[in-house]
Amino acid sequence: MVDALQVSDLTVAVPGAPPLLDRLGFRIRPGERVGLVGASGCGKSLTAAALTGLLRPPLGIIGGVIRIDGQEVHDAAPKAWRQLRGRGIFQIFQSPGTALTPARRIRAQLAEAAGIAGSTQRRAVAHALEAVALDAHVADCFPYQLSGGMKQRVLIAMALILRPRILIADEPTTGLDVLTERDILAALGTMADETGAALLFISHDLRAVAEVANRTLVMAHGTVVEDAPIADLARSSAPAARQLAEAARALQTAC
Ligand SMILES: Nc1ncnc2c1ncn2[C@@H]1O[C@H](COP(=O)(O)OP(=O)(O)OP(=O)(O)O)[C@@H](O)[C@H]1O
Ligand SMILES: [Mg+2]
Repeated sequence: MVDALQVSDLTVAVPGAPPLLDRLGFRIRPGERVGLVGASGCGKSLTAAALTGLLRPPLGIIGGVIRIDGQEVHDAAPKAWRQLRGRGIFQIFQSPGTALTPARRIRAQLAEAAGIAGSTQRRAVAHALEAVALDAHVADCFPYQLSGGMKQRVLIAMALILRPRILIADEPTTGLDVLTERDILAALGTMADETGAALLFISHDLRAVAEVANRTLVMAHGTVVEDAPIADLARSSAPAARQLAEAARALQTAC
């Protein structure tokens, strides 16, 4: 089976400076749910930006390969990236505000996604909102009328409609309370179950990753240093993986 996502030797840098991503490599199979963890500044969000064609100069890919569904995309033109974003690879960011158009009601924004996916719009919008546990009246709201957690769920509803091959969620619950976090993690799981999308879930929080993912990639200094089930991180030969597992255990004991 062709991998949903394959990254080999991906190197990202500002020309003349040391690489920020350094020969990064991993694979995600179709429908697989993978966590990406690592200390602040290790390169998680840069990885997401590279995988979605959103690196901005002077940052650029200076080596390596990215394949989505077997197709090389690392040197795709901006127009090709615009076509890939959405149904090929869809990203949910930490602050969802910028991903939604401020002056358009949620219904119109979800209906536009439904149009792209060729679904029957009204039914698709109603179903997607229900699947992420949002009330139907949210469709009549503008983004500014919704909380951060509600906006995140609108974006997950959009992913449900678009049915992307790969969904990247970059710290989608940071700054939200634990109950809202639980709703969002559940919505992500529903999305992945319903669409068969591969999921790359980026987080600092191993507990959240354990709820969503079966396998965890640990990053340190711009590269992947471990690729294992969460339960195995404490025994990893990579210090960064052991430190994360230890920190998670200490937090659990404290609670
Ligand atoms: N546009 C840029 N130009 C130069 N350096 C950058 C740029 N964006 C990020 N960096 C650097 O790349 C490194 C990785 O940043 P990145 O945002 O990927 O970290 P992260 O792992 O997502 O951290 P966090 O957990 O805090 O979100 C950092 O050292 C950061 O300073
Ligand atoms: Mg980040």
